[in-house]
Amino acid sequence: MGRLSARRARIVGGTAQDKDRLVDHRQRWIELVDLINTARQQYYGADHPTLSDAEYDTLFRELQDLEAAHPELAGGDSPTQTVGGERAGMFAPVEHLERMLSLDNAFSSAELEAWLGRVRKDLGHLPPLLCELKIDGLAVDLVYRDGRLVSVATRGDGRVGEDVTYNARFIPGIPQQLTPTAGLPVPELLEVRGEVFFDKAAFEEMNAEMLAAGRTPFANARNAGAGSLRQRVDRREEELALAEATTGDTARGAAKLARLRADLDRSIQRLGRLRLTVHGVGRTEGWRPATQSEAYAALAAWGLPTAATAVVVADDGELTAYVEQYGAQRHGLDHEIDGVVVKVDDIATQGRLGATSRAPRWAIAYKYPPEVVRTRLTDIEVNVGRTGRVTPFAVMEPAQVAGSTVSMATLHNANEVRRKGVLIGDLVFLRKAGDVIPEVLGPVVEERDGSEREFVMPTHCPACGTALAPEKETDIDIRCPNVRSCPAQLRERVHHVGARGAMDIEGLGWKAAVALLECGLVADEGDVFALTAADLATCPFFTRTDGELTANAEALLTQLEAAKDRPLWRGLVALSIRHVGPTAARALAARFRSLSAIRDAGLAELAATEGVGPIIAEAVGEWFAEEWHRDVVAKWEQAGVVLAEPETEQLPQTMAGLTVVITGTLTDFSRDGAKEAVLARGGKVSGSVSKKTDYVVVGDNPGSKAEKAADLGRPILDEAGFVRLLAGDEP
Ligand code: IVH
Repeated sequence: MGRLSARRARIVGGTAQDKDRLVDHRQRWIELVDLINTARQQYYGADHPTLSDAEYDTLFRELQDLEAAHPELAGGDSPTQTVGGERAGMFAPVEHLERMLSLDNAFSSAELEAWLGRVRKDLGHLPPLLCELKIDGLAVDLVYRDGRLVSVATRGDGRVGEDVTYNARFIPGIPQQLTPTAGLPVPELLEVRGEVFFDKAAFEEMNAEMLAAGRTPFANARNAGAGSLRQRVDRREEELALAEATTGDTARGAAKLARLRADLDRSIQRLGRLRLTVHGVGRTEGWRPATQSEAYAALAAWGLPTAATAVVVADDGELTAYVEQYGAQRHGLDHEIDGVVVKVDDIATQGRLGATSRAPRWAIAYKYPPEVVRTRLTDIEVNVGRTGRVTPFAVMEPAQVAGSTVSMATLHNANEVRRKGVLIGDLVFLRKAGDVIPEVLGPVVEERDGSEREFVMPTHCPACGTALAPEKETDIDIRCPNVRSCPAQLRERVHHVGARGAMDIEGLGWKAAVALLECGLVADEGDVFALTAADLATCPFFTRTDGELTANAEALLTQLEAAKDRPLWRGLVALSIRHVGPTAARALAARFRSLSAIRDAGLAELAATEGVGPIIAEAVGEWFAEEWHRDVVAKWEQAGVVLAEPETEQLPQTMAGLTVVITGTLTDFSRDGAKEAVLARGGKVSGSVSKKTDYVVVGDNPGSKAEKAADLGRPILDEAGFVRLLAGDEP
């Protein structure tokens, strides 16, 4: 990886002159083949990519162009001639009945037009085209004999993949048995291809759990999918069975069994969240569909998950409309896509167009342009966060990217600055990751003039001058250890008390928090709830020119009062305990019901709470060990903050055993309110619709979850139905 990134800057985008200077096309060809093969190995074999998809595509395209200009270079082992994807060797090899091809890409509408032009020329007309979304997941090959699933394999190199049949039994979208329907018996042999993936909600939930369990989260949904599909679940089961048979009746033995069981459960749970969408047919016996769309209809009828978004278009105009529609909507979909796949619908016509060794001529993947711009990195500054973490961030000349102006982006830590290879003064590539968070991708090295300088991480806190240090030797982050009185940390913590996911006090915005500290009205977050009108009247920020309190100041006082009775989890979040966000806080609140019970709980008890793991437990323990933290709690309690769940009787558990998904806006419930109503009655709320969802509550302007509910045939409720369900009535 080091080798790759060191050379990448030079290789990924040299100017025409640079490349001329390389002159030796063969040398460049060798470099490109090496880079692409290494990247493929990391992407497919180790599930750990080091190049962005766009960079990979750029290299690949350059190699194709180079080979087109110098055909003597191309050989059968060039990556342009192979599918890419190696088996990692953990699973038994399986030969596919028919080769699994890859797809050629079109990176612009001109390239898409060019493909349409070729199809038109070969056939003399433009045939109906099937458009569907290009899912960013893992290709799998499923074989059904007489309707029974006999094999599931990864794509591998296109001829031979890895046998993941055992794991597939835990993926709910993969039917073990096909359902014959009237007039459509299941064929003797059916080889079907599809994409296995995590949707965004499942990916986020899974990563939150990984974090809670003290494990490293996955970089993206695709890697998480690959990692999950490639778990050796069968070995875990064997290991557990062996341990059950041989482990003696000792405490250590019991602990080992518990750990093995938990590992196995987690693996199976992860597989249970994977989804499948089928997108092609390989070898068949006893069934010959005439068109791709007819094939999808049959596959759906037999119980295989097909995409509701696939449509057949008749001309260029309809195709463009499809591409534009999903280009605009793509970030709102419930799973990641990286483009649109266009296929000739008629299967005999597909045969006439044929395929190369790598990809069919009858299909093309149109890739959406990554929204990347170039701008000047004018400085790298550091920010001191709420928990003292010192993070460098990029200050840039304002640039328009993905619809908004961006001038700052976090750089996470000093390692990350080094890894990206950016210098202050560089021209940099900038994008919005997932179209939301700005991210500096790297420098445009050939634009350097020598005036750029390296960023040096400060040794002392820019806010309070304390020497910075990593907290533990293994930390990549450095922190300001002056937690209690560093002004930067204080501002962040006081502001955080009122955050939407904490005590939700609108009047305690950033400026108000700064004013409270600067006027000396609060020494730290402990003083916030004791604020009075007389206090605020002494600070210009909260008073009008006539000396009266501003409307905002009055509102702040009312909101502070109201916040004192907020649910315990909000108070927990407001205390800025490291790693305790809303999810962990809810779990702790549900289990312990009061802050004092949490304080008095032992580490093991905390860690055994569902949704809390050893890391969070330790953070909670360490937090309470600090005397001034306990003072903060005491001051809050003194001021009347409840910090306990109400002693009221438990609500009737009308939702016990039910899982609901809520989408869209409800009239009488806020987002959190609806969720709490379900949780308080013993139910579960999930972020994504699956077969396990009992009800989908649909409010105004629902997202794609409503569609998915319809696809999966899950019952849909309006708000009135939801209210009846909560009450324990027939919805
Ligand atoms: S069709 C011969 N359709 O993209 C046609 N592939 O970059 C082969 N993919 O290997 C594939 N969504 O794993 C097809 N709707 C879709 C797809 C899709 C994602 C994947 C597939 C393929 C890769 C090529």
